[in-house]
Amino acid sequence: MHAAVVTEFDQPPRWSVADEPQAGGEHEVVVEVVAAALHPRVRSQADGSHYTSTDELPLIPGIDGVGRLPDGSLVYFVLPDTRLGSLAERATIDLRRSVPLPAGTDAAAVAAAMNPGMSSWIALRRRAGLVPGQSVLILGATGSAGRLAVQIARHLGASGVVAAGRDPEALDSLAGLGADAVVSLAGPLGEAAARVGEAAAEVDAVVDYLWGEPAQAVIPALLTRRPDRSHRLAWVQVGAIAGPDLTIASAMLRGANLQLMGSGQGSVTTRGILDELGPLLAEVSKGSFVLDIDPRKFADVEAVWAEKASARSRVVFVAP
Ligand SMILES: NC(=O)c1ccc[n+]([C@@H]2O[C@H](COP(=O)([O-])OP(=O)(O)OC[C@H]3O[C@@H](n4cnc5c(N)ncnc54)[C@H](OP(=O)(O)O)[C@@H]3O)[C@@H](O)[C@H]2O)c1
Repeated sequence: MHAAVVTEFDQPPRWSVADEPQAGGEHEVVVEVVAAALHPRVRSQADGSHYTSTDELPLIPGIDGVGRLPDGSLVYFVLPDTRLGSLAERATIDLRRSVPLPAGTDAAAVAAAMNPGMSSWIALRRRAGLVPGQSVLILGATGSAGRLAVQIARHLGASGVVAAGRDPEALDSLAGLGADAVVSLAGPLGEAAARVGEAAAEVDAVVDYLWGEPAQAVIPALLTRRPDRSHRLAWVQVGAIAGPDLTIASAMLRGANLQLMGSGQGSVTTRGILDELGPLLAEVSKGSFVLDIDPRKFADVEAVWAEKASARSRVVFVAP
């Protein structure tokens, strides 16, 4: 078969001949890959920088996708940490990590939405414990995950959603997706953080895609503007686009009810993640969320890799 093969971490994958995948285990089956997306997580897998990466090469990147089972039906699947990913004509999946798709499902939409959608779906349901009527700040709301986070927070019953990001055009579109307030992070960071703190002073939860300097500035700006500092603020760290670290003054933890946590592989059990796939998938299949998809051919993977990733749309490789 052909697959996107990475032979060096500083080189893009090449569409080349690879060994046929094998189904050895009791729950394993080989699927024809119908659609698989190029998530940021897939790029970091391919360049060896993801926190789960090992140094083993060659590897086929790709963490999830839509596959056709031998009986012709479609499933959405999530792969374990593996060197044999989904950017390939065929892949071995574990049926326990898959969900059947209804006939007529838009495979590209499912492949595009599940990974970015799961980031906020799990953060809000499994980590923040959002209940209907609470309000949410999405920090870094302009990417695929952030845009879905705005819609998912609304869908889960948030009474208010504040969306903060730096790209003006993408920010403009967020009101139409369900954001009540849109705050620009452009310009001097102190001023931007003050704007976010003002708009989000009373939120119950934060889904933070940025971390780094923006989060470091927003945490005190928000906490010091809180009318009731003992009111719980669940700050869920989901992405680290702006930097891997931040410094936080001890007084922020003593002087407010700040609960810092992360959401991702490890902080939620595999079973817990798998249990959330079905409910999110049902909403994606129903077309509950607005998605921006950029469909491409698998064979063009090397050229697509070299393009600057668009924040608005998600590249999905689709089988002919
Ligand atoms: N933990 C999980 O379960 C999980 C799951 C999925 C994704 N993630 C993570 O979530 C993050 C977002 O994923 P995604 O799929 O939405 O990525 P994406 O579509 O590439 O979007 C990234 C967004 O971040 C913005 N951005 C970059 N640097 C910024 C900065 N310094 N300040 C403000 N905005 C900035 C970009 O906008 P510009 O146009 O301004 O550059 C873009 O809108 C990634 O780190 C990903 O790994 C985590």
